[in-house]
Formats: sequence, C-alpha cells, structure tokens
Amino acid sequence: MIDPKLLNKFIKVCERAAFGASKFKGKNDKVAADKAAVDEMRSELNKIDIRGKVVIGEGEMDEAPMLYIGEKVGTGKGENLEIAVDPLEGTNFAAKNLPNAISVMAVAKKGCLLSAPDTYMEKIAIGAGYPNNIIDLDNTVEKNIKLIAEAKGTKPENLTACVLKRSRHDKIISSLMDLKVKIKFIDDGDVTGVISTVDINSPIDIYLGIGGGPEGVLAAAALHCLGGQMQTRLVLNTDDEVNRAKTLGITDFKKKYTISEMIKGDVIFCATGVTNGDILNGIIDKGDSFEANSFVLHKNQKISKKIKNILKK
Ligand code: FBP
Repeated sequence: MIDPKLLNKFIKVCERAAFGASKFKGKNDKVAADKAAVDEMRSELNKIDIRGKVVIGEGEMDEAPMLYIGEKVGTGKGENLEIAVDPLEGTNFAAKNLPNAISVMAVAKKGCLLSAPDTYMEKIAIGAGYPNNIIDLDNTVEKNIKLIAEAKGTKPENLTACVLKRSRHDKIISSLMDLKVKIKFIDDGDVTGVISTVDINSPIDIYLGIGGGPEGVLAAAALHCLGGQMQTRLVLNTDDEVNRAKTLGITDFKKKYTISEMIKGDVIFCATGVTNGDILNGIIDKGDSFEANSFVLHKNQKISKKIKNILKK
C-alpha cells in the first residue's frame, strides 16, 4: 500500500495547482493558466519525501520543460512512486471561466501505471454493478447500449451517454440518437466525463468516444477505486505516434486495455476544482487564503471523499 501519510500531501499538490490556474480564470489565456498550474504542482511535489517519476505529464522531455514524462519529482528520499498528472484538465474551461476545469493526479507504486503517450485514445466506460467485461470497444454502439439496458432492466431511451462534442464522434452520436439514448455533450474535460459514470448523483450511464490518452489513464485510476469498468485503446495514426508509444515501452499498438491493465495495485487519485463543475466546486479566493474543493480516492484505504480545505496563499 502507498503510505497513507502521503495522501494529504498529494491533495495539497492538486489544491496548489488548482489555485495557480484559478488566478487565470476567465483571462482567455489557457497557456498562462496551464503554466501556473504546472509551476505550483511541480514545486509542491518536490517538497514531498518520495522518489517520484512522472509517467504521464505535460509531454515528452523535448517538448515540456516541466513535469515531462520521465522527470524525477520529490526529494529523492522515500517510496518509489509513479505519478500521472494533468495540472490543468480543461484549459479552455479555465481560460473562459466555464465549469469543470480541474487539477488532477494519480499516484501508484513503481511499474503500476500505464505510461500512455500524448495521443488520442478510444474510451468506453460505465459505472459499478454490471457483470464483468460487459462492454467492448469492438461492439457496435447498439450492442453496448442494449447490453447495458438489459443489465439495468431498462430501455435504451432511459439511458444517458456522455460524449465529447467533436465531429469525429458523429457516427457514435447518430447511433445513440437512433436508439433514443439521452446524450450529455461535453465541450472538453473527459476525465470528469468518464468519472461521472460512477457518480451516483450523475445521470450518466456510459461514456464513449475518443479523447486524450493521458486523460484516459487518469480517469481509469478513479474508476479503479470506485469499481467502474473501462476499456481503452490508443489511436496511433502516424509513424511519429507509433514511435512515441514504442519509446514508452508499448509494443502491441492495437491492444485494448482494461482498468487493471492500466492501473495495477494500490492507487491514489486526487482532483481539485479550478472552476465550479459537475463533481467539484472551484477555488474561492478569500483574501489571504483560498478555499479548495477536492475529490480524493485511495484504493487500499478504501477512501472516497470530497473535502474542502482553506489554505494560505
Ligand atoms: P486540455 O485541458 O489539455 O485542453 O484537454 C481537454 C480535453 O478536452 C481532454 O479532456 C480530452 O481528453 C481532450 O482535450 C480531447 O482532445 P481534443 O480537444 O483534441 O478533441
């Protein structure tokens, strides 16, 4: 198990990153918002007594100055841990002061997180309580929806699917519409989209579509703790993308990953709201301090909680 004493320290990492990004809320500058989140996240991570290695970060070493894949973080004393970060998930949301911008990270023991390249990934996810392996990326949308409806003892028209609003999803969307499934469109932020399948307060039954690979692994970490199901497959369209996957140790480029193939063993997942959103409220400026709202999961401690902290600026 990952040392439980580290949990609060990782929460603080996300809180500080979200605070950094929040200074740029509505300023129409997603690069500045992202950089502020990265700076805060990295500086906070480097205070923790761990031997950490970023396996999902801001990009590869030559394209990201900070929190790049392979970067060592922490003081260099303590547990060997792998870290997946997205200091600002939903850069557009933060820049435009729209709901659902979050700072998010996942932590696992060495060798336990899939190091996914920054390419697209096919994703399908559902909540807890279904028979194992009920959904499959290679099924038609119709088949997946019918299987879920049957398992729930309901009709497709009573289900809600979450889909990123992108033209690449036109075929998925028209199949869902033919089945009369309700669609919750999101403009960005598929980590929240996938997590909403396991949120009992959300009407979403299924997430499907193509989004970022790193975001897929982060969402899988949350579902690993909460008992949802997910299947993913990297989308590697160019030689460059295939080479990036190879560099990260991936050899089967068409592999369909289940959650336990992306996340092994114990995992900690933290997300802090930057702007108000579906699962979290955003940062509230209180003068000398700020309020941060986080969603925290620790698999082996069976922790799943939403917390509110006041921190000094
Ligand atoms: P950023 O925060 O990096 O802008 O990513 C937002 C996001 O919507 C992710 O949640 C999603 O996985 C990805 O972008 C989808 O990519 P694209 O915008 O290229 O369709």
